Amino acid sequence: MAGDLLKKAREYEIKKEQEIKEEVRPHFHLTPRVGWMNDPNGFSFYNGEYHLFYQYHPYDTNWGPMHWGHAVSSDLVNWSHLPAAMAPEGAFDNKGCFSGSSLTLDDGQQYIIYTGVYTLAKEDGNAVEHQMQCVAIGNGLDYTKYELNPVIGPSLLPKGGSVSDFRDPHISKDADGFKVVVANRAADGFGSALVYNSPDGFTWHFDHELIHNNGKFGTMWECPCYIDIDDKKVLIVSAMEMKAEGYEFHNGGNVICFIGNEDENRHLVPENVHTIDYGIDFYAPQAIKTPDGRTVMIAWMQSWDDASYRNGLSWFGQMTLPRELSVKNGRLYQRPAREIDSLRHDKISFEDVVINKDNLTLDGINGRVTDIDITLKKTDNCSFFTMGFGGNPGKNAILSFDPQSSVLTLDRSSVGSGEGAVHKRSCKLENCNDDLKLRIILDTFSIEVFANEGEKVMSMTFYTDPEIDNITFSSDGIIADIVKYDLK
Ligand code: FRU
Repeated sequence: MAGDLLKKAREYEIKKEQEIKEEVRPHFHLTPRVGWMNDPNGFSFYNGEYHLFYQYHPYDTNWGPMHWGHAVSSDLVNWSHLPAAMAPEGAFDNKGCFSGSSLTLDDGQQYIIYTGVYTLAKEDGNAVEHQMQCVAIGNGLDYTKYELNPVIGPSLLPKGGSVSDFRDPHISKDADGFKVVVANRAADGFGSALVYNSPDGFTWHFDHELIHNNGKFGTMWECPCYIDIDDKKVLIVSAMEMKAEGYEFHNGGNVICFIGNEDENRHLVPENVHTIDYGIDFYAPQAIKTPDGRTVMIAWMQSWDDASYRNGLSWFGQMTLPRELSVKNGRLYQRPAREIDSLRHDKISFEDVVINKDNLTLDGINGRVTDIDITLKKTDNCSFFTMGFGGNPGKNAILSFDPQSSVLTLDRSSVGSGEGAVHKRSCKLENCNDDLKLRIILDTFSIEVFANEGEKVMSMTFYTDPEIDNITFSSDGIIADIVKYDLK
C-alpha cells in the first residue's frame, strides 16, 4: 500500500498535471503525467486493459529517484494516466524502483518484478550500490511490495557478476513455471543475460546464462526482453557504449536484437544481430503478446545520449508508437500497430507528383498529427529527395533519401539545442530495386518512419512550435505518390 513517498507523489501529480496544457502533449504517444519519464515498464494486458508503467521522476524534468508512473489504455493509442504505482521507499529500493515487467497471476492479481536499488556501506566507509530483483503485487491500481524482498539478491549471481549492474528483469510464464531474464555485468565487465526460474514468482533460482556479450556489442546491457516471434527466439537488449559499425550501429547506446534459436543447453544461438531503430530516439523497448496473438513493442522515444536535447516543457520523455513485430528473412520487421489505422481520417492523395524544385508544398499536405504513405518511384537520374516537417524551410526537421546510395536520413540539426546532442542519423536501405515505400507518422513532437514495409525504422523527436505544421518536398525530379491522413 501507499507509503508516505507514494502518497506525496500522487498528490503532487494531481496538482501539477493541471498546469500542463494538452496542446503541448503528443496526441497518442504516452508522456509522463508530470516531470520525467524513461523506460516503459510492466507493459501488459491486465483485466481487459493494456497497462504501461514507466520510469518516473514526477518532481523534475530530469532523471531522479525512480518511481513507477502508470497509465492504461483499451486500444494502445489512447492512454489515461493512473496514480503513480510505486515510490522508492522500501528497505530494498530506497535509491530507486528501476525497470521491470509484469504479468497476471492465476489468482487474478497483477504481479510486478522490478529492480530495487539501495546502497550498502562497506567497512571502509565507501558505499556500494546494490541492484536486486523485487516483487510487488497489485490490483491494477495499488501495489504492495512483497515483505521478503528482494526475491533475487546477490547470492543468486553467478561468480563475479556485478551487484551494482544487475537489473531490469523481464518475466514470462509457461507450463514449467515463471522465468525472468535479467541483465548483469559479468566478471569480465561485459553484459550478460541471465535466466532465473521460479515455481511461483517468489522463490527463484539461477538457471543459466542465456547469452554473453563477449565484448562485441558494447559493455553493459540493459532492459532485456526475450520473446518468441514467428518461430524464432528474439532477445532485445539496450547495449551501452557500443562502437559504430557502418550504418548498422552507432557510438553509444544502441538497441539491438539477437534473432536465433536455443541450443540443447538453452543458450541462445543468434543467426542475426541488428539494430532495431536507426533513428535518434529509441531505447529500452518492451514487447508483449496481445490477447489476439500479436507481438507489440513500445520503447522510450528518447536516448540517454541526446537527453540534453530538451523541450522546455513541464514533462520530458515520451513513448514510441506501439509497433507490431514479425520476423522475416532473419530480420525483425515493425509496423505501426493496426489500432493506429483506425485513427486515420480526412484522406488527401496525390499521384505521380514530379518533384523538381525546392520546398514544394501540396494542397492539404500538412499537419503535426499525421500519417503519410509515400511511394517514391524508381528513378535513375535523381540525386536527392527531402521532406521538411514542423518548421519553416531552413528551420525544420528533415527526412531525406539519397536514391543513388539508398541512404535514408533524419536530421534535426537546424532546430537542435545548443548542447552537443546527436541531431542526425542515417541508415542504408537494402532492397531498393523497386519503388521505395515510406510510412511516416508525426505526432506533435516526433516523427517515426517505417521504410520498405517496416524492414527499417527510424524515430526522432523534434521540439518545435506545434502550431507550425507545413510539410515541404524537394528533389531534382523524383516522382511520388503521396497519401496523407490526419490522425484523431
Ligand atoms: C535504462 C535504465 C535501466 C534502469 C533504468 C533506470 O534506460 O538505465 O537499466 O533500470 O533506466 O531509470
